[in-house]
Amino acid sequence: MFIGTEKLTHTYMPGTPFANEALKEVTFQLKKGEIALVIGPSGSGKSTLIQHLNGLLKPTSGQVLFEGRTVGSDKAELLKLRKRIGLVFQMPEEQFFSETVYDEVAFAPRNLGFAENEVQTSVTGALQEVGLDPDALLDRHPFQLSSGQKRLVALAAVLSFKPEVLILDEPTAGLDSFSRANLFNLLAVLNRNTGLTILICTHHLDEAAALAETVFVLKQGRLVLNGPTSEIFSKREQLHKLGLGLPAVTEIMYWLAEEGLDVRTDIYTLEGARQEINKLKGRQEK
Ligand SMILES: Nc1ncnc2c1ncn2[C@@H]1O[C@H](COP(=O)(O)OP(=O)(O)O)[C@@H](O)[C@H]1O
Ligand SMILES: [Mg+2]
Repeated sequence: MFIGTEKLTHTYMPGTPFANEALKEVTFQLKKGEIALVIGPSGSGKSTLIQHLNGLLKPTSGQVLFEGRTVGSDKAELLKLRKRIGLVFQMPEEQFFSETVYDEVAFAPRNLGFAENEVQTSVTGALQEVGLDPDALLDRHPFQLSSGQKRLVALAAVLSFKPEVLILDEPTAGLDSFSRANLFNLLAVLNRNTGLTILICTHHLDEAAALAETVFVLKQGRLVLNGPTSEIFSKREQLHKLGLGLPAVTEIMYWLAEEGLDVRTDIYTLEGARQEINKLKGRQEK
């Protein structure tokens, strides 16, 4: 197993009247080099789950595993882990605290003890990796950037230390459709070019589904479904019962099938839909 959990249970404020079991015996694993999604209604435990993966939250019971080993609470080991597993929080720009883009992106490499010339190379490299121009942005105040740029700076701040796993909590929340498409596209390119393993919590299935190999579905702290993307989105009724939508393109394929057209319904990309509709046209013309 590359990274995952084994019967992970997490209770917030245990032993108090406010005790809340946010995760219940969740067992899942990610394959090295894949992109996976975690979906589920608000409050289903997505953020709680991913904050365990780099040791920010501790299991109440069960365990988190990385490369076959249990993640413990030894401080030195946790530091090493956080260097290998990068977490981009929801609305990360709300936590910006530096005066310049340079300092913001340099924070983690400096903290990890990189020499200043390595810090500089990491910062420039990370900004280029997210498609931002270091020359134009390094000296700017982070709050002067557009929301799309801020989000990219936050991503660069994590990429600066070259993690092997990248975990993102609702990375496109609050972005316009252009910045959203740009960000998802960037994640796909990073995964393709560097083999980075990526786990994304998201509600934006239209764009995200096309990237992902695997989908995990949470409901009230339990992992209720998981499997290959096409398999998960072929469970329309089950997802609707869970209060979850399908990618719009999948929903359209279902409508066509309900109209009696002979099309597959396990389609979740625009390209897949185009091919399926072309096949249908081909059959009708014969
Ligand atoms: N810091 C916290 N203290 C107490 N309860 C929390 C805390 N964070 C989340 N919760 C609760 O845990 C459950 C899961 O929350 P969360 O992991 O944030 O879900 P999601 O990310 O899917 O919206 C919810 O009931 C939420 O209210
Ligand atoms: Mg959340």
